Amino acid sequence: MDTWTIQKLLNWIIDYFTEKGIDSPRLSAELLLSGVLAMKRIELYTKFDKPVDKQHLARLHDLVKRAGLNEPIPYLIGKTEFYSLEFNVSPDCMIPRPETELLVERAVEFLRTHPVRNSVTHKMTQQEEISNGARSGAQFVCDLCTGSACIAVAIAKNFPDARIIATDISDAALNIAAANIEKHRLKHRIKLLHGDLFDPLVPHSDVEKFDLIVCNPPYVSAAEFDSLDKNVKDYEPKLALFAGADGLDIYRRICQKIDLFLKPDAALMLEIGFAQGAAVKEMLQQTNVFAEIKIEKDLNNNDRIVIAKTASKS
Ligand SMILES: C[S@@+](CC[C@H](N)C(=O)[O-])C[C@H]1O[C@@H](n2cnc3c(N)ncnc32)[C@H](O)[C@@H]1O
Repeated sequence: MDTWTIQKLLNWIIDYFTEKGIDSPRLSAELLLSGVLAMKRIELYTKFDKPVDKQHLARLHDLVKRAGLNEPIPYLIGKTEFYSLEFNVSPDCMIPRPETELLVERAVEFLRTHPVRNSVTHKMTQQEEISNGARSGAQFVCDLCTGSACIAVAIAKNFPDARIIATDISDAALNIAAANIEKHRLKHRIKLLHGDLFDPLVPHSDVEKFDLIVCNPPYVSAAEFDSLDKNVKDYEPKLALFAGADGLDIYRRICQKIDLFLKPDAALMLEIGFAQGAAVKEMLQQTNVFAEIKIEKDLNNNDRIVIAKTASKS
């Protein structure tokens, strides 16, 4: 009987994915194989001649077939990478996208250059209070629609003085978020709340205004459903994708309450769909909350985030 080495398997999976029209067949094959064998991608090449045992072969056979039917590889292997960090994922949460890294980059830049205001006291947890006690440099961040908590975790990892409250309406997604916060040992700096946008913040008397609010909300319109890739529309949670007839429902609802939650000199950063920049900017202007509103493009030259800043207190 032929021995299945890593090299032979990799080539077979690449050929299979190419035949099935899967995007980036080599990368997809590497991710699946390294995920199942619990190896780094580079190790596939340094251990090319290593035989793969029967149990792994059986599991791979099943997963390769499922990937060939467009099931997303991060769901099949239960993890993905975002902002150079590993995150657990499951079909209960959206798979973090590379485009969203721009939002994190701008958020971290903002926090690093933003003057600290100590006038408002936040108490996130008793534990938090203790670790916060001696820190005057803490900046308070809210991540609405947190999903896997990829944005909150990436910000916290890159800005040690961030204290973050992250909310989501999906309990199932929050379970994944909790696992990721635990995985990155950030329980003392990120607090999860369940509920509709700002609603879970209001009954928490310990929550006041934020230095920064970030949000990657659902923003797909009902009409766009058919144009979505099969791996998105058949597998990712609808709750994470759709936001009403024009895809703008969540932005509208954020605008209704945003003045209650931002400090002076603070920022709101929203990920948007490529055609939503003008509409979201207009909505934000109508709140009369912001002194400056800017749309930023991603590497593909598509509008990707809106950054809105409140005025300094005179
Ligand atoms: C596009 S996903 C973003 C997930 C994650 N922040 C990311 O960037 O990968 C949107 C998330 O919003 C949540 N969501 C949808 N409607 C919501 C609402 N009304 N209030 C709070 N969260 C909501 C969904 O459960 C989903 O996790």
